[in-house]
Amino acid sequence: MSSVGSGTEAEPYELDLPADLEIGTATSAWQIEGAVAERGRSIWDDFALRPGAIKDGTTGEPACDHVHRVDEDLNVMKWLGIDAYRFSISWPRVLPDGTGDVSTDGLSFYDKLVDGLLERGIKPVATLFHWDLPSSLEAAGGWPARDTAERFADYAEIVGAKLADRVDRWATINEPWCAAFLGYAAGWHAPGRQDDAASLAAAYHLMLAHGLATQRLRSVGARNIGIALNLIPQVPETPGAAAAAHHLDLLQNQFWLDLLAGRGVPSELMAATRDITDWSFVRTDDLPIISAPIDWLGENYYSIARVAEVGAGGEGGNGQDANAYPGAPACSFAPRPPVTDMGWEIIPSGLVDILKVAAAALPGVPLWVTENGAAVPDVVEGSHVIDPIRTEYLRSHLAAVLEARELGVPVRGYYAWSFLDNIEWAEGWTKRFGIVRVDPDTLDRYPKNSAFWLRDALARRKQNLPD
Ligand code: FCB
Repeated sequence: MSSVGSGTEAEPYELDLPADLEIGTATSAWQIEGAVAERGRSIWDDFALRPGAIKDGTTGEPACDHVHRVDEDLNVMKWLGIDAYRFSISWPRVLPDGTGDVSTDGLSFYDKLVDGLLERGIKPVATLFHWDLPSSLEAAGGWPARDTAERFADYAEIVGAKLADRVDRWATINEPWCAAFLGYAAGWHAPGRQDDAASLAAAYHLMLAHGLATQRLRSVGARNIGIALNLIPQVPETPGAAAAAHHLDLLQNQFWLDLLAGRGVPSELMAATRDITDWSFVRTDDLPIISAPIDWLGENYYSIARVAEVGAGGEGGNGQDANAYPGAPACSFAPRPPVTDMGWEIIPSGLVDILKVAAAALPGVPLWVTENGAAVPDVVEGSHVIDPIRTEYLRSHLAAVLEARELGVPVRGYYAWSFLDNIEWAEGWTKRFGIVRVDPDTLDRYPKNSAFWLRDALARRKQNLPD
């Protein structure tokens, strides 16, 4: 890691991209779209109004105003030369009340986006849920309620019927761990609840939603259906932290993988959380639905978690909070330097490790790194944005993907998070992940040096391809 931060823009960060690795960028609806008045409300709109919930008081308007600047954004993507673009569809833009009447304008926006991508030779990769649950469904119980999974399946079918002929790949849900545990246990993501029992039910119903939506998408002809998880290696940093690290691993990794693999909720997790919930929301006939074979698995990788005994760790990075892990023994987190602005340790080898875990859990399922990137301080000089640490972050993690492939792990794609600077959830605009800068005042787009680097690597790869 000694090279982190030491690169200069004069010295290119070399990496040869293989022809068969799909390269893309990723975003999500609430983080970039804006146009809030043109859709129904989501839990993130409500959460943003709570004083102090989002650090800098950011709301969903205007975000990057992507809905109104979509052509400009598509042209920047074309300039980049990416193979694929992963975006998410806003459930309340399609169904303002989460169920019932469809917004034709809302659905048309995605129709136009998909066509715009295809016209520019970019594969559309759609995520159906990236955390912006319609407010009316939260009022009806949110993810802790089984009915939300049924409503999600209806929504999936509506979107699938419109776009299945053109979307290249689908992710049902993005990072269900965050939606369940940051949203309903730790409470520092929307809907901001702190109820451990509800969070475990939410986790389960998110996976049921995935399974039901997969069925419904397939029924309308959608192909290449998967889910994007945020599996994170849980590494005990001190000997006394082993039990805590194991519990965290059950919640962060094994729960999702075991359900997908048809093993059900880990019995060890059920036993360790008996005082919190009796798990009576689990029905035996759900498992075949949840574990119906997926066509691919997405992994959003940023870092590992070093788990320490209480007092032995530091503050921990963003999201590293024992309250987000119901039933966990008391513990703390101890990221080692270098870390990004999120407090996340920069450690590309963790990506190799977690891809191996995913491949072993779901043999034969091809893997995509559906997010990877860094929030780092950018140096802005006019229209020039200097971000060597981000460039090196991307290069070193792409190199980790190549290493995993050499070890036989079937990684087929890599998407940088993020295409644009955007609202980093509870951190608001205080953290910037984009390879393209969004000017806070004008919302003008400026590709950062990391974007130029990626573009050059893609152009070199294209030159090397046989005609
Ligand atoms: C992931 C989210 C994504 C973004 C990155 C930094 O957990 O999926 O929306 O916020 O973290």
